[in-house]
Amino acid sequence: MTLHHIIESQQFTLPMLDELFRLADQMGNTVARGGTLDYQHTILASLFYEPSTRTRFSFESAMLRLGGRIMSTERAQDFSSVSYGESLEDTIRVVGNYADVIVLRHNQVGGAKRAAAISAIPIINAGDGKGGQHPTQALLDLYTIYKEIKTIDGVNVALVGNLQDGRTVRSLAYLLGKYERVKLYFVAPPTLQMKSDILEYLNRHNVWYCLESDFKKVLPEVDVVYMTRMEEEKIPAASIEKPFKRYFIDEDSMKLMQPHAILMHPLPRLNEIAPIADADPRAVYFRQTRNGVFLRMALLASVLG
Ligand code: CP
Repeated sequence: MTLHHIIESQQFTLPMLDELFRLADQMGNTVARGGTLDYQHTILASLFYEPSTRTRFSFESAMLRLGGRIMSTERAQDFSSVSYGESLEDTIRVVGNYADVIVLRHNQVGGAKRAAAISAIPIINAGDGKGGQHPTQALLDLYTIYKEIKTIDGVNVALVGNLQDGRTVRSLAYLLGKYERVKLYFVAPPTLQMKSDILEYLNRHNVWYCLESDFKKVLPEVDVVYMTRMEEEKIPAASIEKPFKRYFIDEDSMKLMQPHAILMHPLPRLNEIAPIADADPRAVYFRQTRNGVFLRMALLASVLG
């Protein structure tokens, strides 16, 4: 598999996904053996214009576990020359002289695409703006479904939360839409439902989906419950539909889930999943974060060669 920039989920084909997951399995085995790979002359720059815990640390962990090195800025607006008004393009041109790959989280939709258009080294989109994409999160989510359920095609998935703004669910819907027999339940208040660009994509690919606001009705139907934050900070106060508690997992709602179903979340979680769910073996969100390291090792190896 040859990859250069990783900008959006649509660029991945089913054979690429199969190969990526096989490589991620190998990376997991290498880490379990305490091994490393031959990337000691390779430098990853993580350039983050927005806060992050998982994406930044797991990419940095992935590079270190490959044997490479990292340099990093978080809050680039404050801690880099972006604070003087330097453009994204100039920042990328300069950092491209210091590193071999840039992991970029930008605060505007299309930021990663702009960076890739002028970058000599691979750009990996680590999330761009409100309602953009977060393809590497979606890839690790799909990898988690593959590991936990042992198949992807034919699974019924509920995507729950603020679907309008959530870049994770947008990227994941694009990826799931590549599988013919997948069924997607978009569960959200009507004001925060999935946007038409994704629905049109699913229509073009003949993928079954429905828009739902009744979470309890959907819970017994699905193999995967994918919770997300409501991202209240991104919603105009006037359009917030309360109570958001309808889109919340507690002990009672866990009882509605099938015994084989899994509960996922890209994290951070706030109130969407009660801590009591953590001990349930169907709650896989912390295993999901670990899978992120192996999947990102596989992505880095693919773009670096
Ligand atoms: N899931 C995710 O993107 O988390 P961070 O914002 O902590 O990177």
